[in-house]
Amino acid sequence: MVIMSPQAIDQQKEISRRIARVPPSIMLSLADKIRQIESSGQKIIDLSLGQPEVPAPNHISKALQDSLLNPQTSYSSSAGSAELRDLIAKDLSTRSKGVGTSSPEVIVTSGSKHALFITLLSLIDPGDQVLVFEPYFPPYAEILGLVGGELKTVPIDFETLEADIDAFLSAVSAKTKAVLLNYPNNPAGWTLSQSQVQKIVSYCTERGVYVISDEIYDHIVFEGKSHTTAWSYSSDSKYVVHIGSFSKTYSMVPYRLGFVAARSKVCDAILKAQRATVTMVSPYIQSAGIAALKGPQDFVKSRLAIYEERRNKCLDILKSSDLVCPKPSGAFYLFIPLLNTNHRECHDAFDFATKFLDQYKVAVLPGGIFGDKWREYIRMSFATADSQLYEAMGKLCEFCKF
Ligand SMILES: Cc1ncc(COP(=O)(O)O)c(C=O)c1O
Repeated sequence: MVIMSPQAIDQQKEISRRIARVPPSIMLSLADKIRQIESSGQKIIDLSLGQPEVPAPNHISKALQDSLLNPQTSYSSSAGSAELRDLIAKDLSTRSKGVGTSSPEVIVTSGSKHALFITLLSLIDPGDQVLVFEPYFPPYAEILGLVGGELKTVPIDFETLEADIDAFLSAVSAKTKAVLLNYPNNPAGWTLSQSQVQKIVSYCTERGVYVISDEIYDHIVFEGKSHTTAWSYSSDSKYVVHIGSFSKTYSMVPYRLGFVAARSKVCDAILKAQRATVTMVSPYIQSAGIAALKGPQDFVKSRLAIYEERRNKCLDILKSSDLVCPKPSGAFYLFIPLLNTNHRECHDAFDFATKFLDQYKVAVLPGGIFGDKWREYIRMSFATADSQLYEAMGKLCEFCKF
């Protein structure tokens, strides 16, 4: 017989097995730690989270303010406002080269993380496997912990940081219910070509495996290359589910606005999960989304140019020291291997990130939070003001020298 302490008994009774299974969010607890340090008057350069340093363009925030002047008193449609869903559907159709979708196949969500949550909740049963490339966005594991699914990972190439599609597809098994793609990728910056996307969708469709495609960085693809959305192949496949967001494209992180598009039955199921959880997204926030899609798109283009210039400059700075980092094709992160550096006093990237924060007041994320095999890498975001970013890069090179 196992004798348990009263505290252990209390814990067992209070906390569900489901929540106990969820790994802690190191990303968000680090963000809390940074806020705490800053509130004591110390300055931190924060390259940890991916949050554009500029606010959303004025026409977007003005739309929010204007909508608050027309206060509403009732619940609105759980799937989202007809106008916003229609705009999202049109935008997605344009981006998938005419492969149509219509507003009934779109659900407006509280950020794309919630879109991911209700999608996985609707498709995955305990024991089902979801295949992802590793390193991966940590909330995938947290959400699957909640839902009860099993995360199975296929590592990308350790040196080039490119995804091997054949290795990935050969890991699909009878237990695989869905593959979860994220391209352009956070944290490693790789993306997929048109033929790779097509190959994944057709391979999975033949086997009845869902392709949940998290493409929230779809507007941040460098060197003039275009982005192929998996939705382009959704007319032949009911298995494609598209996850999108306003957070990064329009600098709308705090608005919490995203969406999911899926073919009819799946969309109905996801809507059930939306109704059971948040009911609907605030109509005021949806007004901002309407303004974002209807308004001028020059902000999106100018941000892309800024990110590309920063990517190039950061890589030059790293090259001038001993740090070699593969060039990201998209998104706004550098995933830097520490293998060639002299940071002998750090036993892994967790230790590195802690000491770097303590000694140089710069926050980066340890690679191990994106998958256990990546403990020798750090991730830094370049969605940070130039002056701070380059100061932090200088500090990084200095820290790696001794
Ligand atoms: C790959 C990926 N998916 C989803 C999200 C969630 O974004 P949001 O909930 O702000 O739309 C993020 C945020 O960093 C991300 O990097």
